[in-house]
Amino acid sequence: MLVSMKEQLKDAYLNGKAIYQFNINNLEWIKYILEECNNQSKPVILGVSSSAAKYMCGYKNVYSMVTNLLDSLNITIPVSIHFDHASDIEECKKAIDAGFTSIMLDYSSHSVEENIKYTNELINYINGRDILVEGEIGPIKEGSHADLNDCIKYVKNANVDILAASIGNIHGIYQGEVNLDFDLLKSIKENINKPIVLHGASGINEPMLKKCVSLGVSKININTDLQLAWYNGVRKGIAENPNVYDPRKVIGFGEQALKECIKEKLSLF
Ligand code: G3H
Ligand code: ZN
Repeated sequence: MLVSMKEQLKDAYLNGKAIYQFNINNLEWIKYILEECNNQSKPVILGVSSSAAKYMCGYKNVYSMVTNLLDSLNITIPVSIHFDHASDIEECKKAIDAGFTSIMLDYSSHSVEENIKYTNELINYINGRDILVEGEIGPIKEGSHADLNDCIKYVKNANVDILAASIGNIHGIYQGEVNLDFDLLKSIKENINKPIVLHGASGINEPMLKKCVSLGVSKININTDLQLAWYNGVRKGIAENPNVYDPRKVIGFGEQALKECIKEKLSLF
């Protein structure tokens, strides 16, 4: 069933747990993710980047695909549709109007003042509707650590529901060791008193993820690990079945590997 991310997070936040955001790319990925999360009876946030929304022919089409699949696959777990890393307010409005249940506004490469201004513009557009807003102080990239005072200022002046802050996490494949700043995470949590999102969680091991959750992370974003799992499954399938050219079968070679990866992630929390 489609729900507000606020509802999903409240449960995770109050119980010191975390909920996963898995990013989607096409019809098959939506199906595989929904089926596996439903099998494991775990709620899920479907993350949609702006480029993924374009690839899937727009927000309305994404919303329709997700809601139709919820129905046709008899999905009973709580599912939300989240616009991930939005960097354009007009795009956010389109996603909201299409039915998305939450928006992440990523103005982290702008000044904190601009970030506050645009986040408030988004909150005004939402105008009390049950749509969660995620903000970011970062940016999330190599060598970036969020400024604690910026986090405090941002949350004080733009009433986001959840904050993404850079603590040494990066998107994509980590080059070398993962080095997260747990002290910074702890200070941010103590000072903002709101749930925190861990972006770039692919490649972060179980003890580190668990430590993040114990220090206030309530949402964990995974994309790259799913892509790698699916890609390896497809490559193996093609290598073992060189005569198969039906696109449904070729895409499907990645299904089991993707589902295994999701199952493993879900088993942690
Ligand atoms: O917003 C999406 C995530 O932060 C995914 O990051 O691709 O490194 O798992 P990842
Ligand atoms: Zn991210």
